[in-house]
Amino acid sequence: MSQTIEAPRTPVRPARKKGVNWEKWGWIYMRASGVILVVLIFGHLFMNLIVGDGVKAIDFAFVGGKWASPFWQWWDVAMLWLALIHGGNGMRTIVNDYARGKMTRGILKGAIFAAVAILILLGTLVVFTFDPCPVGQPADLLPSFCAA
Ligand code: HEM
Repeated sequence: MSQTIEAPRTPVRPARKKGVNWEKWGWIYMRASGVILVVLIFGHLFMNLIVGDGVKAIDFAFVGGKWASPFWQWWDVAMLWLALIHGGNGMRTIVNDYARGKMTRGILKGAIFAAVAILILLGTLVVFTFDPCPVGQPADLLPSFCAA
């Protein structure tokens, strides 16, 4: 007995004959970012949970110390951008596969895009502007390791 598997509905629009094939680059991006994310995520987990005192060492000072280094700032920002764009593009594929109405697809993909853009913007700002000891703040609001 043979069974025919229905063709998936992605892409919603047939690939353009001319110009950039964005669907193909999206497909390649999922694989490339996946490989880099394995390194970034396992490096992150190893440094935070295994090295030194492990998970018990994670507190405000730990994060402040890590983000004092441009290396960890860029590590975390790379993880943020790659994972959010990867997750957003993956969700876009799922919406294209399963959402039937044109308007439903538009609303869902608009919401995904907005969430990704806002989280990338806020996350990047937090990592690069984070200051554990802001000048001019009341001493009782600052963590104990800040010089008075
Ligand atoms: C360990 C790192 C990761 C690897 C190696 C990885 C790998 C992949 C690959 C190869 C695909 C494409 C699958 C396909 O086209 O059939 C994919 C899809 C997807 N990924 Fe990841 N990924 C990783 C992390 C993440 C993270 C952190 C998120 C969430 C932010 C995420 C969310 C998704 C989503 C939503 C899809 C679409 C699933 C689908 O099409 O059914 N992935 N992933």
